[in-house]
Amino acid sequence: MDLTTIYKEYSDKIKEVFGEDRKIVYGDGNTNADIMLIGEAPGRFEEEQGKPFVGQAGKNLDEFIDILEIKREDLFITNVVKVRPYKINEKTGRKVNRAPNKKEIELSLDTLLKEIEIVSPKIIVTLGNTPLKALLGDVKIGDVHGKLIEYNGRFIYPLYHPASIIYNRSLYDVYIEDLKNLKKYIKSNC
Ligand code: URA
Repeated sequence: MDLTTIYKEYSDKIKEVFGEDRKIVYGDGNTNADIMLIGEAPGRFEEEQGKPFVGQAGKNLDEFIDILEIKREDLFITNVVKVRPYKINEKTGRKVNRAPNKKEIELSLDTLLKEIEIVSPKIIVTLGNTPLKALLGDVKIGDVHGKLIEYNGRFIYPLYHPASIIYNRSLYDVYIEDLKNLKKYIKSNC
């Protein structure tokens, strides 16, 4: 199995379920990385550029990278759901981002698990609840953020999603503290 094969399978599945017109945003970066970052789903800018974590999310990613003192090339970056979940704003008729639903997550999980096996990172950093729950089931981010969790011979390191804590100063401080602890772990293990 390689990424090209599993992404082709995903694309076929998405076409079958949602039709031809959904753009897929595949994982991006170093396919031999020790660190894999998993977000929720692409938004408008990711869909436009065909790349995860661009636009505002890319700025959040820059901060993440700065604190860890790594480069984007040191990461493999992907999302649980690889098509943009959207709804139509009835007033403007425009697409707006929404959280992925159960069906989209279930449809995408197998591809995510295969990505993990193929890239084989030492540490998987999950951003927010969607990737955390997709991999570990019924856990709460508030209970496990900033803790290393053993996962099939690797570790998961859950973080709050930076987009969700922008307006919450105390959670933002927790996020930064968790990142600083992650940096220590990476320095001695990756
Ligand atoms: N952009 C992504 O690619 N993933 C997220 O989770 C948020 C924004």
